Amino acid sequence: MSAPLTILGLESSCDDTAAAVVRCGGNTGADGAQILSSVVYGQAALHASFGGVVPEIAARAHAEKLDHCVEAALDEAGVTLADCDAVAVTAGPGLIGGVLAGVMCAKGIAAGAGLPLVGVNHLAGHALTPRLTDGLAFPYLMLLVSGGHCQFLIAHAPDRFDRLGGTIDDAPGEAFDKTARLLGLGQPGGPAVEAEAQAGDPARFALPRPLLDRPGCDMSFSGLKTAILRERDRCIAVHGGLTRQDRADLAAGFQAAVADVLVEKTRRALDQYLSLAPAAPALAVAGGVAANGPLRTALTVLAAGRGVRFVAPPLRLCTDNAAMIAWAGLETYAAGARDGMDLAARPRWPLDTTRAPLLGSGRRGAKA
Ligand code: KG4
Ligand code: ZN
Repeated sequence: MSAPLTILGLESSCDDTAAAVVRCGGNTGADGAQILSSVVYGQAALHASFGGVVPEIAARAHAEKLDHCVEAALDEAGVTLADCDAVAVTAGPGLIGGVLAGVMCAKGIAAGAGLPLVGVNHLAGHALTPRLTDGLAFPYLMLLVSGGHCQFLIAHAPDRFDRLGGTIDDAPGEAFDKTARLLGLGQPGGPAVEAEAQAGDPARFALPRPLLDRPGCDMSFSGLKTAILRERDRCIAVHGGLTRQDRADLAAGFQAAVADVLVEKTRRALDQYLSLAPAAPALAVAGGVAANGPLRTALTVLAAGRGVRFVAPPLRLCTDNAAMIAWAGLETYAAGARDGMDLAARPRWPLDTTRAPLLGSGRRGAKA
């Protein structure tokens, strides 16, 4: 085994400013991978009163917080820049002001400390996390479901992903957040809708399962949110407002519809993936929506029924963080990747350029 690698990672593509230090014994593969620190400064409070992430505010907050965040990550890890082998930074996709702030900060550190620079695709960070946490072997199937993303990827190598499908409009987390707003629940909407749904009847309202009638793994969630709006307004028209039960039934119906779509599309993605006859088949999930209890249960059952290992990294590594960026940087650095001072910040950066781009454009910015 070659010498251990220690990588500093930076993330600032949406509304979390994050820095982390990850160390691994030289060879790629997760044997002995260690997260020495992972610091996340969330910006939720800054954006709360606007009902969504404001790109200008996000960019300014990233620029203010990044160096403190890096210092905290180095301190917590008990290392200095001299102990690091490279700086990895999210170079896209994401809100351009934030991505730029991170890339500029990383360039400054790399130039000042004489360290190599590695630009990381944010989606690759999410997609490679199961190797950091569970040592998954390639190829594995990945379902990325967050507030900004929804796609199925077959991970073949640190820099090779096959995108089987994704959302053509809203991401599921975004739909959860909008549904919560429509029902007068708090933000983030996912946990609020899940809690409300516990007392609800998922079958009371006839809600659509968009794109299930079409072949393939593409998805759509914006029509579902519109259906919730319509049913909500119908309830309001009948008794002048939403009863507690209306709210619970709408939440339960919405959650069940999202889970049905995701599970059926995962079934199809698994068919394609399993046709590759992987030696150690595995399905992994990442993104904030992966925290959803009923969805997790349904995916666990689906994977078990197909003889596929199911991996869901701990939530703090499923949502945006810099450990995943440091790890993806470590894997690509070990494979020879290096970037120069001309590394560009990219608002859009599809992981799989062989497929036609997805249309999606959600409020949280990061598109692919
Ligand atoms: O990955 P993430 O932290 O951030 C990005 O989108 O980048 O995901 C946040 C999203 C939010 O839309 C939130 O409502 C959703 O994940 N979420 C959930 C749950 N917890 C968080 N959605 C459904 N059920 C949950 N329990
Ligand atoms: Zn993300």
